[in-house]
Amino acid sequence: MRVLSGIQPTGRFHWGNYFGAIKQYIELQYENDGFYFIADLHALTTVREPTVLRANVRDAALDLLALGLDPTRATLFVQSHVPEVSELYWILMTGAPLGLLERCVAFKDKEARGIKADAGLFTYPVLMAADILAYDSQCVPVGEDQNQHIEVCRDLARSFNAHYGETFVMPSARILKETAKVPGTDGQKMSKSYGNVLALFEDAKELRKKIMRISTDSRPMEEAKDPETDHLYQLYSLFATDEQRLEVRDMYLRGGFGYGEIKKRLADVADNFLEPLRKKRQELASNPETVDRALASGARRARTVASDVLARVQKACGIKP
Ligand code: TYM
Repeated sequence: MRVLSGIQPTGRFHWGNYFGAIKQYIELQYENDGFYFIADLHALTTVREPTVLRANVRDAALDLLALGLDPTRATLFVQSHVPEVSELYWILMTGAPLGLLERCVAFKDKEARGIKADAGLFTYPVLMAADILAYDSQCVPVGEDQNQHIEVCRDLARSFNAHYGETFVMPSARILKETAKVPGTDGQKMSKSYGNVLALFEDAKELRKKIMRISTDSRPMEEAKDPETDHLYQLYSLFATDEQRLEVRDMYLRGGFGYGEIKKRLADVADNFLEPLRKKRQELASNPETVDRALASGARRARTVASDVLARVQKACGIKP
């Protein structure tokens, strides 16, 4: 099965990115034909400093490789290295109803927070549709916040197929229930734009400090608490073994514990998981050619697929003989 997903290089990846999406990329790379890319064209809607964008793309590649993405199994590439996608974007734009884009919450949310919208931000879901359709993708592993964009992609594919004849493969989102919306330090969805993130490759001491500052309610220690509605428990569950999780669940149900104790346990399990990854990342960072080679061969492979799909689309809509 062709699996595809993208991630924006807008800063360091956080726990939400990993547990919502990247972990799925890695799990799916063994049995499927995985295509994973760093969405630098999408990032242009927010990162407008060239040196920062270049550094972010590099960091994103290092992070993905350190986390376990294997470029000999999956195709890892940078979005802009496949120019076919940009042409497909335009073709899809000509059939994208304005009302459909106006309803997209990611855009509405940014606008509501006073971020001045430009055409790039507004048509962002169409570029995402081009990303997905350019590779005949069947399965798109993402977190909950991308679901609506994948629905837009399906709508655009459906109406193109209805008008020009069967051209695009219909993709489906793959969203895992437990990790669809990983909470941040304040209990809202973890997101760079909310300033509530716990980064994956944060310095260990800094990370511990941030964990100790996770917001909690002010109920007395003696009181029993419902673990299922508590974001600290949800964060702990991401890293804990079943046994560790059940022990903490029991503490919640019994009461008589302080949140500080759970935070310490969270810092320990997170550190256990992250320490070997930090080492692997350091090793990779000292071998930049390995990363360049992986991205170059990924782009070659991705272009081969995308140019075939684009030729099919061009033919269907009459812009090439
Ligand atoms: P981006 O860069 O915002 O996020 C990358 C992935 O991380 C997931 N994610 C989360 N999952 C669970 N809980 C959270 N708190 C959380 N925060 C982020 C996102 O759902 C996403 O899967 N538009 C996309 C990038 C993109 C793309 C594509 C994705 C461009 N083209 C084509 C799929 C297919 C984005 O901005 O993701």
